[in-house]
Amino acid sequence: MRIVVLPGDCIGPELTAEATRALAALVPGIELEQRPFGAAAIRACGDPLPDATLSACRGADAVLKGPIGDPEFDAAEVRPEQGLLRLREALDVYANLRPARRGEVDLLIVRELVGGLYFGARGVRDDGTAFDTCEYHPAQVERIARRAFELARERRRRVTSVDKANVLETSRLWRRVVSELAAGYPDVELDHMLVDNCAMQLVQAPGRFDVILTENMFGDILSDEASAVSGGLGLAGSASLGDAGPGLFEPVHGSAPELAGRGIANPAGMLRSTALLLAHGLGLPEQARRLDAAVDRALEAAPPPDLGGSATTREIGDAVLAALARDA
Ligand code: NAD
Ligand code: IPM
Ligand code: MN
Repeated sequence: MRIVVLPGDCIGPELTAEATRALAALVPGIELEQRPFGAAAIRACGDPLPDATLSACRGADAVLKGPIGDPEFDAAEVRPEQGLLRLREALDVYANLRPARRGEVDLLIVRELVGGLYFGARGVRDDGTAFDTCEYHPAQVERIARRAFELARERRRRVTSVDKANVLETSRLWRRVVSELAAGYPDVELDHMLVDNCAMQLVQAPGRFDVILTENMFGDILSDEASAVSGGLGLAGSASLGDAGPGLFEPVHGSAPELAGRGIANPAGMLRSTALLLAHGLGLPEQARRLDAAVDRALEAAPPPDLGGSATTREIGDAVLAALARDA
């Protein structure tokens, strides 16, 4: 098994270091190949996603990615984030799964990842007007909706489709396609919710949700919110999957520049993403379960600063390895 590791920017390398240690412990003989991506790749060759990195990703069994983004390039023409969008599109990982779990909260955001505002025509006109356009083809909606219904069948069989159908044409298309597809899933309960209401309900009654199905931009925003009601952004992992080819596994959070180099970022979101890689990317659900359990124990014993404790990134990584060794 061969994994391409993209360390990422700012806190990215500190977090991927802990993830790769855990992976090596869980899957003896696993091949971990590090490649330049994001700000580091812009500095080295002017391109956040060099051709050699992309072809290595295409040929891997899965891609493990640290967060990217660096203030140095915030006003630059070429940004690390562009490399991430190109990578998601090139791998066609249209289904971004973002689970949030804590106590009564157990929900899964299924976010469309390669369409909508992120990939529409954009520009700045001569008069200074800037524009971004949101487009969806019915087939793009259908494939992500199908994924959400299938996933709901392995859970509590409830899908909440989130849109802005009172205003947006793309949302009216979204609602129509999702409703039509639902006819093929009579065992799954579907309801539609407007995104502003959903943002409120997520804070007030997050326990009511099972699967939240939504488009790219709404899913980006709602997933940060869902992480906050289930323990914090530092804990959230994600899996991005296509129909074939390698999946992409990365935390929900960003590169937290203000924490970079201090060794205090929470590695849990990265480690949860690694567990998703084991389960969805390599077909190793037992190893995924062991890693999740080890992360739970490490955080319980000594939480990092974002959870009110003082454990360092490395100390949590060490505690995870120790927990894995104990249960082996
Ligand atoms: P951010 O997610 O980096 O940080 C938001 C807040 O959460 C900050 O207070 C930060 O300190 C905290 N935080 C995030 N991760 C943490 C962790 N592991 N442990 C403890 N605290 C953590 O969001 P931002 O500041 O808006 O963005 C910073 C950069 O990250 C930007 O360049 C952005 O484009 C990029 N970004 C990248 C990804 C990705 O690679 N998938 C995701 C989101 C943001
Ligand atoms: C995320 C991030 C990315 C997104 C950015 C960095 C392009 O916020 O993975 O949630 O908006 O998808
Ligand atoms: Mn985001």
